[in-house]
Amino acid sequence: MIEGTAGSYASVVDLKAGTIARDIFVDDAIYRDELEQVFARMWLFVGHESQIPNPGDFFASRMGAESVILCRDRERHIHVFLNTCRHRGMKVCRYDEGNTPLLTCPYHAWSYSLDGKLAGVPMYNKLYDGVLDKSQWGLIEVAQMVNYKGTIWATWDPAAPAFEDYLGGAKTHLDFTLDARDGREGGSEVLGGIQKWVVPSNWKFGAENFLGDTYHNISHRSVDLVGIGPSALKGVRGRRDEEVPGGQELWISFAQGHGLHSALRPEANAYARTFLDNDEVDDYFRACFEARKQRLGERSRMVSRTGTIFPNTSYHGQQPRALFVWHPHSATSMEIWRFYLVDRDTPPAVKEFLRHYYMRYSGPGGMTEQDDMENWNYATAASRGTIARRHPYNYQQSVGAFSTDDPVPGNVSLQITEENARNFYRRWRDCMIAPSWSDLQKP
Ligand code: FES
Ligand SMILES: [Fe+2]
Repeated sequence: MIEGTAGSYASVVDLKAGTIARDIFVDDAIYRDELEQVFARMWLFVGHESQIPNPGDFFASRMGAESVILCRDRERHIHVFLNTCRHRGMKVCRYDEGNTPLLTCPYHAWSYSLDGKLAGVPMYNKLYDGVLDKSQWGLIEVAQMVNYKGTIWATWDPAAPAFEDYLGGAKTHLDFTLDARDGREGGSEVLGGIQKWVVPSNWKFGAENFLGDTYHNISHRSVDLVGIGPSALKGVRGRRDEEVPGGQELWISFAQGHGLHSALRPEANAYARTFLDNDEVDDYFRACFEARKQRLGERSRMVSRTGTIFPNTSYHGQQPRALFVWHPHSATSMEIWRFYLVDRDTPPAVKEFLRHYYMRYSGPGGMTEQDDMENWNYATAASRGTIARRHPYNYQQSVGAFSTDDPVPGNVSLQITEENARNFYRRWRDCMIAPSWSDLQKP
């Protein structure tokens, strides 16, 4: 059993040896420390503005293990509140999403306006007058919130750095996920509903996988052979939307803990026909490609594949273009949420094509995603035992292969590497030890 102390966390993540103790994926005491040290302080993804377009709209989300309400007030301002009544803690909002003039608690009917103020208390004059100061008992709101290109992020820590500083160099790559396919800034919306499902695995398995673990592609061999992708071809081109023939794959990590896998197209930067079984979709993406090239010039050579923004938000930059959240439930259970993205002004037929492809690839019924879940599920089960926990995981892959002398900012590797994972757990360990943001080494 690991005690939650600075010394012990330094030893469970041994970056010199390239080993990490299994306890951080299965231990309850470490999990409880994580909720405090990581989830109560970092910036977390909460939802997308397109989910709450009108005043009164709300979406029940999560931050760490806790329920929060993302909503839009009458003045159209967006808020994020803890989903708990200030009276006896009842969950104020028990629906996944909807529209309401007031958030009324089902227990004793205290009601809150959508800017979080305590608006109504039954029998106030008789029972509380002169005692209960309503202005002090509104919903608990996050310390900081930001609308970044339509995506809503929040933190409980007023001392956390500004969101863009928190993103650091990962911003460019996240931008390629959030920006329009033709290179305009922002403009995305969530396509359809949110997929949510519970997997018996620690949340870090998902976060780590999306840091750029291309080493595991072998476990998708069977689905690659089937050819479920938009090109309708077997093999890798049957799975990905866009190949980068002759390009340079990049694995990049940042001091803030983020890690990602992107690629740089060759200088010729030509469109590779991808949607072979649908001309309308292919024409649309070809036009987007050319417009983006025009708009961004050299920068348009960058292709954003996958990445994880520390601690628990990941993205797929191309297809299936999506944001994922790995919500912790316990040391050995997480709830995965997927938000699929499209440009708002994408033609309906293209949206429909993508909707089918997204479901075929991703989510609890997606053929590719099922492979990942199986790995994380069984790895967790096989790591919980008394004997198993005596033996650490190995993180020695491509030690020292990355350099800073590369085409883009960050610690870049030109070959498959676990450096992104090592960097992620370095940041995780620092968070678990640091008493406050000022103690965390600010990048
Ligand atoms: S718990 Fe909400 S009104 Fe009592
Ligand atoms: Fe995978």
